[in-house]
Parts: sequence; C-alpha cells; structure tokens
Amino acid sequence: MTILQSLVQRYLQYFGEQYVLIQAPGRINLIGEHTDYNNGWVLPAAIDRYMYFVLGKNDRQQEMTLYSPHFDQTVTISLQQQDLEKQPEELPFWAKYLEAVVLEMQARGHHIMGVHGVLHGDIPTGAGLSSSAALCSGFIFGLAYFNQLSISRLEMALIAQAAEHRVGLNCGIMDPYASLHGKANHLILLDCQTNHSSYVPLHLSEYSLVLIDSKVKHSLAADSSYNERRQSCERAVGTIKAVHPQVNSLRNVDFTLLRQFENQLDAIDYKRAKYVLEENQRVHYTIAALLQNRLATVGQYLYQSHYGLQHDYEVSIPELDLLVDLTKPFHEVLGARMVGGGFGGCTINLIKTSSKDHILDKIIESYYLATSIIPEVYEFKLVDGVHIHPLFKV
Ligand code: GLA
Repeated sequence: MTILQSLVQRYLQYFGEQYVLIQAPGRINLIGEHTDYNNGWVLPAAIDRYMYFVLGKNDRQQEMTLYSPHFDQTVTISLQQQDLEKQPEELPFWAKYLEAVVLEMQARGHHIMGVHGVLHGDIPTGAGLSSSAALCSGFIFGLAYFNQLSISRLEMALIAQAAEHRVGLNCGIMDPYASLHGKANHLILLDCQTNHSSYVPLHLSEYSLVLIDSKVKHSLAADSSYNERRQSCERAVGTIKAVHPQVNSLRNVDFTLLRQFENQLDAIDYKRAKYVLEENQRVHYTIAALLQNRLATVGQYLYQSHYGLQHDYEVSIPELDLLVDLTKPFHEVLGARMVGGGFGGCTINLIKTSSKDHILDKIIESYYLATSIIPEVYEFKLVDGVHIHPLFKV
C-alpha cells in the first residue's frame, strides 16, 4: 500500500466521508542563503518530498481535529478566538504551526470553519528542506479550499511566513514561497524585495543535483542563532540608515557603502553584511552561468557560498563542512554547499551523473569513518507547488 493509500484509509477509518488530498512540497535552494530576510535574491525549487493532508469538512464548525499517524497524536484546535488565546493545553510542536496558521488567517480577517483530517510527511525534518513551511503552506491551502477563500499563493506564503514568526522563527519568505510556487523542472528566481519571481529551467546535461543529509538535526525555531543572524544584519542597516535614510535593507547597500561603515559597525555585523552582499551577487552570477550552461562556474559559486556561510555568516557546522570538503578531490563534483538555514541538515552537490554512485559511496564511507554517523543521500525531482492530488479527490 502506498503512503497516500494508507493515509486515505486512516482518514476513512476516523472520519469516514468526503475528503481531498493535498500535497505540499519541501524545497531545495541552489544558492542565495540568508538573503531572503535581507530583501535579497534566492534561487529555490520545490522537490518531490511532501507534507500530505487528507482533509474533509468538519460538522463541528468551531474546531478542527487533526491526527498525525507518525506521532500517533490527535489534536483539537479551537476556532474561537478566546479559546485560542487561552491556549488550554500545550500542543505538540507540529500542531503549534497549525494553530499559528489559524490565528494568522483570522488576524487577516479570513473566516474559517472547521476541517478535520490526517497529515503525514516524507520531508526529513531538521534537514534544511523546509518541512515546517510545507506544513503551513499545505494547511493554508486546505483551509482556503474548504472555506472557499480566494487567497493568492503569494498571500498564502506571507501567511505561512507569519505563522512561523508566531512559532518563534523570524524567517524570510523563501520556503513557503517555493512550496507554493514550485514548477516542475524549474528553479524559482525570487526577488524578496518585491516578491516577484521568474522561473529558470534547470538543464544540467550530464550532471545531477543530489542532497546528502549530515543527519545532524536542527530546529531553527528552537534556538536563537538564526534570529541573531537576522538581528546582526538589521543592526548594520540601522547604523547605515542613520546617515543614509533611504537605506531600508542590505538590498540598498553596495560594497563601497558597506566599506565606508566598516569602522562603525561591530566586526561580526560587518562580516555578516558582507556575506549577504556577496551571496546576492552570487545568485546573479549563478543564473548567468546556468543560462550559458557553464556548470563548472555554477559549481564554483556553490563552493564560495559554502565558504561564506562557514566563515563569515557562521551558520555551518563541522559535519557539513566535512561533507563539502569530501567532495573536493573528485573532479566529477563541480560544487557543493550546505542548504537552508544551517546548523545541521543537508548539503547540495552538483555531480557528474555517471560517477555519482561511486563518489557518493566514497563520501558516505569517509563521513562515517570520521563521525560515526551514516549520512543519507536524497535524489529528487523539481516539482509543482502545493496542489490537490488529482487521483484522491472525492
Ligand atoms: C530558513 C528560513 C528561510 C531562509 C533560510 C536561509 O530556511 O526559513 O527563510 O532564511 O533559512 O536561506
């Protein structure tokens, strides 16, 4: 039985009537890390790892009941504002995102009636592949569907981002945007200042992109490091803005201007801001190289991005650095870097397809010898954003 069949069966067993099955993809990001909340550029794509929701209309209109077979937990979320604010019992962490979605939609004036359902995912959690953004995005899509709300995909992404803020991560818009706007075989070039995007077809000829999971799990929402990086950038902007009021984000700062403030900025804040400016530039260089099929150059930008994340932005960890370093002796690997917020999770690797299995075996072996951790390789396809599964709609 497939994962989808078993979820539908669970749904029928618990709730027993009409349902839709929604799938919300996770994402990779080719380049443009920690640039989204600095109004910069990112180059993500939705991948064929999903959060699945089997949802139906709930007769008890003032609450929703949701079951996670993975955790074997059922939660009931009240839709009455006063109950939500009282927060009678501690919700499990996955349900906190759902509750935050409800609160955020209500705060934006969307009238929501109850749904019930079963949810499950095959996006590895804590791996930098945006399982929480997929959770929020798929749920928002489902609530909009059942309540006949006409909400654009951009607004859904903004709601998902705000829901993550409510849970405690001051993230940018990249992850839910990618989950909601993905397109098969395409990357998304997103300008996080205007929230406009365009699709870039991904043609890698005899090369492949592959993820290697360090298996060091990290919840960005559970510690302050991510939010501290954001604060560093905002402090740098604040200092520059005091002299140049037109500067609202690092997007409005170029290298010459930043250098003029080197002595006034805290050394760490300066280093963080410099990384952001460089990474934004790399996104554009990468696009140019991709469009001209200069894949070796794309690979060099991936390595440079990792170097910046390791030494200047300091969001990498030794295990991710090791995975990247292990690729370097192989001329069939054009580039590699950590992906997502950092502090754990995966690297993304640009590898010659014909040598892939052999090289991955070598990397897995060396990584295991050094860390006693067995890393996991994820192959993936670039897919469409959140949608209703066509075969499972009654
Ligand atoms: C996390 C955040 C994103 C983005 C990345 C880093 O995934 O949710 O908004 O900042 O980290 O690029």
